[in-house]
Amino acid sequence: MKNATLKKVRITDTTLRDAHQSLWATRMRTDDILKIAEAIDNAGYYSLECWGGATFDVCMRFLRENPWERLRQIKAVCKKTPLQMLLRGQNILGYKHYPDDIVERFVALACENGMDIFRVFDALNDPRNLEKAIASVKKYGGHAQGTISYTTSPVHTVEAYVKLAKEQEAMGIDSLAIKDMAGILTPGAARELVGALVKALPEMPIQVHSHMTSGMAAAMYLAAVEAGAGCVDCAISTMSSFSSQPPCESMVTILESEGYDTGLDQKKLADINAYFRELKATRQPASSAKVEPVDAGVLVHAIPGGMISNLRSQLAQQGALDRLPEVLEELPRTRADMGYPPLVTPTSQIVGVQSVLNVLGGKRYGMVTDETKHYAAGYYGRTPAPIEKKLQKKLVGDLKPITCRPADLLKPGLAAAAKEIPAKLIKAEEDILSYCLFPEVALGYFKWRAQPADAKDPIPADLEMKGEGENVKGEVAAVDPETAKFAQIGKAFAALMAACGGAKGGDLGLKIEDLSLKDEPGAAKGEAGGTRSCASENDASAIPAGTPVLAPLNGTFYRSAGPGKPEMAKDGDSVKSGAPVCIVEAMKLFNPIKATANGKITFLVEHGKPVTKGQTLAVIA
Ligand code: CO
Repeated sequence: MKNATLKKVRITDTTLRDAHQSLWATRMRTDDILKIAEAIDNAGYYSLECWGGATFDVCMRFLRENPWERLRQIKAVCKKTPLQMLLRGQNILGYKHYPDDIVERFVALACENGMDIFRVFDALNDPRNLEKAIASVKKYGGHAQGTISYTTSPVHTVEAYVKLAKEQEAMGIDSLAIKDMAGILTPGAARELVGALVKALPEMPIQVHSHMTSGMAAAMYLAAVEAGAGCVDCAISTMSSFSSQPPCESMVTILESEGYDTGLDQKKLADINAYFRELKATRQPASSAKVEPVDAGVLVHAIPGGMISNLRSQLAQQGALDRLPEVLEELPRTRADMGYPPLVTPTSQIVGVQSVLNVLGGKRYGMVTDETKHYAAGYYGRTPAPIEKKLQKKLVGDLKPITCRPADLLKPGLAAAAKEIPAKLIKAEEDILSYCLFPEVALGYFKWRAQPADAKDPIPADLEMKGEGENVKGEVAAVDPETAKFAQIGKAFAALMAACGGAKGGDLGLKIEDLSLKDEPGAAKGEAGGTRSCASENDASAIPAGTPVLAPLNGTFYRSAGPGKPEMAKDGDSVKSGAPVCIVEAMKLFNPIKATANGKITFLVEHGKPVTKGQTLAVIA
């Protein structure tokens, strides 16, 4: 990849990763890829992004495929074009920090199985979350591409991005990507940013990645190339546009018209496209066929469409869809409070859920998710801008804030993980890494794989196509894992409770703490008028006298913290104000409800029953 001073521009094809993740819920199968892999390899792309992101999880969860085998098979065919993957830094492909030994071994095995270029990014742009992954890529002979996760805010200045690029240059990156995951980078801003990067790091090849979400990406690519970017990410036209990348064929012509040579041949691209046009009929989920071609709202509020649909589904679960405009107004405020993180997994979820709680709770940060707590305490990394001290103290609660590199706190994990998997299910070392990243999903796949060839359970993705996807046992139905955390609320939580025997289900088992009760013991009492909204649930005259304990949100009521666990408080127990006495699960958040007074408690709701916001759960006499 040479910068454009030579008038040569290369194109990375994202069809086999980001494009189908954006448009087909990542449901493309290895066989689909192998049938066209040779043609793609011969087309003249700079690289083929074909692994990482959500592909790994979906392979095992929905397709019952081994992602490592997919990589080996693609590599066996694609011998000319480097393979590329998206690696979430210290999060690898998951949603939490993994210990360094797991990061290093994952990268080593990816290299060994054929991966060439690793685009390493971090949601917070914290270089400490990138350093182990980048060092490992270098150690095992891969091409380490550093990344700027692009966003806009008062602290995300061109100077700050240049500084971030230089920090990654010092780590030894081979090239640098500007990752515009929300499609908010304008042509003017791209010209300025790329121009500054080329000036500050003249030898560093620069690649630009964007999404057509807002309709700007093709124009932005041209501006970036004119400013000196040497490579842009596109998808074959059938797999392009909407929330995917700009169409490759169009970009080739746009660039040619300005005197740039991409080395790509339209005839070959047309043949490749014909294949995907045909494949679309069987692989595009019905839901994505309904998406608007351009989400112009992004231009107004800079919130990606996927995030808005998540917010919408959370609000719908709370019977509060009418409050979406308030949440859209609240979200930038919450993001500012939290130090302006770029909105990409997992920060998009953290900021999104917290904004919903800030609106529905009636008091900003009255309820705080466990994730927000950890985020504010530094466990995800350094926030782009510092969180205001007083707010940070409130958000962090009893958690100890850290300033070190978060992964420094983690003990090596590989050996322990290997011991957790039944030996007869492990076929290769790669399986242990699959398990480290997605324990439940990997075990499900290993067990499926161990079934006799003629008696295997159906493949979840096949059931989905027959409209039976929801019947897949223990699985979340047809949802991309990137959005699964948000979208599938009650059902997924119930499955999780059953699977994990509690609410500690990794990224899904969130907890929220009701700070309003801590701050103001009378707060819940003050809201007692809320019981009017659930008069149909609780006949007011039937409620015994005393201080009510109210549901802060619509959700499911639990007397214990998980199946098999004892009740948190028994009827007639003497409870102390502030002690957790029951649970309301909502929006996948596991919300301990605290006693509102000292006294004897009487529960009014049965374990496992749905409750509505403001409903009286118990009374303390
Ligand atoms: Co992308």
